[in-house]
Amino acid sequence: MAETPLAFFSVYLYNALWKSREVRIKSTCAGIYSEVPYVQEELPLDRTQVVLPAGAIRRQEEFTRRMAAFFDRAPRRPLAMVDTYGCQQNVADSQRIMGMLRDMGCGFTQDPYQADVIVVNTCAIRENAEKKVFGVVGQLVHAKERNPDLVICLCGCMAQQEAVAARIRHSYRHVDLVFGPQALWRFPELLCGVYTEKKRVFSIADEHGSIAEGLPVVRESDVRAWVSVMYGCNNFCSYCIVPYVRGRERSREPERILEEIRGLVEEGYKEITLLGQNVNSYGRDLDKPMDFAGLLREIDRIPGDYLIRFMTSHPKDADERLFAAMAECPHVAKQLHLPVQSGSSRVLKAMNRGYTREQYLEKVRLARAVMPELVLTSDIIIGFPGETEEEAMETVSLVEAVRYDALFTFIYSPRPGTPAARLPDPVSREEKQSWFDKLLEVQNRISGERHRAYVGETLRVLVDGGSGDGQWPLSARTHGGRLVHLRGDGSLTGRYVNARITGSNTWALFGEAL
Ligand code: 5AD
Ligand code: SF4
Repeated sequence: MAETPLAFFSVYLYNALWKSREVRIKSTCAGIYSEVPYVQEELPLDRTQVVLPAGAIRRQEEFTRRMAAFFDRAPRRPLAMVDTYGCQQNVADSQRIMGMLRDMGCGFTQDPYQADVIVVNTCAIRENAEKKVFGVVGQLVHAKERNPDLVICLCGCMAQQEAVAARIRHSYRHVDLVFGPQALWRFPELLCGVYTEKKRVFSIADEHGSIAEGLPVVRESDVRAWVSVMYGCNNFCSYCIVPYVRGRERSREPERILEEIRGLVEEGYKEITLLGQNVNSYGRDLDKPMDFAGLLREIDRIPGDYLIRFMTSHPKDADERLFAAMAECPHVAKQLHLPVQSGSSRVLKAMNRGYTREQYLEKVRLARAVMPELVLTSDIIIGFPGETEEEAMETVSLVEAVRYDALFTFIYSPRPGTPAARLPDPVSREEKQSWFDKLLEVQNRISGERHRAYVGETLRVLVDGGSGDGQWPLSARTHGGRLVHLRGDGSLTGRYVNARITGSNTWALFGEAL
């Protein structure tokens, strides 16, 4: 008998597994890159086509059971490694993939040389993220050489792009399975396909996207959990690849979200982050209308000691209804991530953001009027094609005016297929870097000042884990989401405690648990 469970698996599966399965795998790797059209209008989807019927999920569960039966007969328990890049949505997706792998009987490892199945969940938002993944996937060839039965899977936003799939097909022949975010729910079937057909599987069909309820999940923390409230994006900001790879906006039914959150609160989770590319357009596609502010109010009624956070809000859709709900719901953190992207109205128009500098500043004023303690963060892109130094400095002046608690700053990265990638981009990387450095210098000073203002205060914080640092052994978060390095006993993990803030720097606070 073969050494590894997977070798055993492939022989057995070949004869017995799911011969009559309905294969919907689209092997589209023409190798020719075709530009994705620029779709600006919203495309309402028919709910009956979006929410997957229970039978479709049960069918995947059947694949999972069959996989589990085969793994069960293997000489040892198979190990899976899930390597995640990118945003919180990817983290949440990976937890679902881990749930499916666990139900197939897999244990988990971080060591590619120990693994029988490796899943790399990728991010396409900037070129650097893609380069990193290609580097990591390239290295996995050594693990495959050592264990030819290793199955390597690539999923996530990179995998949804035909050009990437083509490159993987031709130059990374050790990768067995490629599937985009829209096919995630079919992972058990796709994995079975790799074993039964003993060939590489590419599933990057350009579907509009669906909602799969009831997928298994492995949550990696007992304290913090992610709950997707919607998927996809209809905004088509001109620099962004997300709408092309994650499909059209689709909202989960509120009942299902409430049910999931009730369960998490009962299990003792203390911090639940609602996820969506643009949570403020939540509910527009539901048959029974409900907006995000309404959803927050419904969630807030669930009794318990927990905090709700959410990301990301689009400034064009964040309104007074949202700010009022945030202010009035005790379970909702007074924290808002409101990506501005640029402080220049001309650049914002070119980015297709749907608001001006002045309109953005007015939203911030409205939010702070009802939540003076609001912790406000943002994303900014420097060096959008055609941006001038003067326009970049308008962004710096907006940052001075708003005084964010923290910023996520990026230098523009052209994404093939997006409209911005076709624009002339005459400014050198060095010049963009100098604008970027200026922005960082200003924000670091502001973050430092805002953090210093907490020193001497006593705050209620959630201890969410150990920090690995002997001097500050615990890590915690304030209600506004600021990181606190804490002195205190390890038994406090998972609890809300009062902490006296004794120090601060640009990135974090320091304190003692009381
Ligand atoms: N180049 C640089 N940054 C980008 N972002 C999205 N697309 C790009 C791009 N092409 C940034 C935006 C977004 C964040 C998640 O990533 O600021 O809000
Ligand atoms: Fe990308 Fe966010 Fe714009 Fe959607 S709203 S296109 S995810 S930047």
